[in-house]
Amino acid sequence: MTVSSSLSVAKNGRVLIAGATGFIGRFVAEASLAAGQPTYVLVRPGPLHPSKADTVKSFKDKGAIILHGLISDKTLMEKMLREHEIEIVISAVGGATILDQITLVDAIAAVGTVKRFLPSEFGHDVDRADPVEPGLTMYLEKRKVRRSVETSGVPYTYICCNSIASWPYFDNTHPSEVLPPLDRFQIYGDGTVKAYFVDGTDIGKFTMKTVYDIRTINKNVHFRPPSNLYDINGLASLWEKKIGRTLPRVTVTEDHLLALAAENRIPESIVASFTHDIFIKGCQVNFAVEGPHDVEVGTLYPGDSFRTLDECFDGFLLKLKDNLELELLQEEEDQKVSTENTVVESRTVTATCA
Ligand SMILES: NC(=O)c1ccc[n+]([C@@H]2O[C@H](COP(=O)([O-])OP(=O)(O)OC[C@H]3O[C@@H](n4cnc5c(N)ncnc54)[C@H](OP(=O)(O)O)[C@@H]3O)[C@@H](O)[C@H]2O)c1
Repeated sequence: MTVSSSLSVAKNGRVLIAGATGFIGRFVAEASLAAGQPTYVLVRPGPLHPSKADTVKSFKDKGAIILHGLISDKTLMEKMLREHEIEIVISAVGGATILDQITLVDAIAAVGTVKRFLPSEFGHDVDRADPVEPGLTMYLEKRKVRRSVETSGVPYTYICCNSIASWPYFDNTHPSEVLPPLDRFQIYGDGTVKAYFVDGTDIGKFTMKTVYDIRTINKNVHFRPPSNLYDINGLASLWEKKIGRTLPRVTVTEDHLLALAAENRIPESIVASFTHDIFIKGCQVNFAVEGPHDVEVGTLYPGDSFRTLDECFDGFLLKLKDNLELELLQEEEDQKVSTENTVVESRTVTATCA
């Protein structure tokens, strides 16, 4: 592919990240700051939840410049992009605001100096995957955003990073924030359909590599680390090895997943429809990365390793141990308080009797 040098982003090109206080956006912002890139973080105006305020403070402490605004405010976005000479815009906005990105694309196109836009993708190749509703509606919206980017002529990259490394609970949008099961495994179908599991830090790290790389202009970048290709039976065995015991396995059938999706509870039913697409239909592995618009991240950066799923599960084990220690400490504390109360009570009784 021949790419005009005017499209390549300078090594220190300024990055604006929308959605940096969110689940995926945080990984991207952390990676941008860790790589020493001039990082601008767009935060929604108004009061922030304390945990999000902490996140913003930590970005600021690491050198981020905080800007306030909404991606749906075209005039403001244009002004910001111009004033701060932004070269790269990365969006990691959540499901409910996917279509707001069309206004952002309009603003980027109007300014004309942004050299790369990454819309909020961070999952499957939405032109290929075909989940049932309500997941399909989200993909239709992501497809609309893709078409608006392509029509605008703004250079883009679509990050198809597959699943986040974790136990893929069928009803949790952010499963890596929870430990894998300790009571029983719910196995989707016969448990033999494979998927790619990528650690959040690697999603951030490789996303940031692609934005400065001319080979990823107008491409779908697929994350397929061979060390992290597992079916759910294999995932269960890996966790059993870590915790040193076996757990019962319960089958969740295709029909059950479809019924959960049909309940149309948002966001749980969206996750159920994606779970069906991944672990029953095999949407991550049923095509080869070989189209003219497809590149695989391991091929682009062969010298860079991914955190293996085995290492990620070691991390979950450490969390589990920390949690257990905290519970033990709490139990000891409760025990101490109850003993002290008993002593005080018996003293009171003695005093009354005297
Ligand atoms: N591969 C996976 O396993 C996986 C898992 C989860 C999500 N995803 C994908 O990752 C993307 C991000 O999802 P998420 O779950 O990380 O989202 P999220 O946690 O809901 O975070 C969304 C972020 O966008 C910000 N935001 C929303 N609307 C905005 C607007 N109009 N202007 C400016 N900022 C706005 C939010 O700000 P506030 O903090 O103010 O709300 C928040 O920072 C989605 O495309 C999703 O499909 C992938």
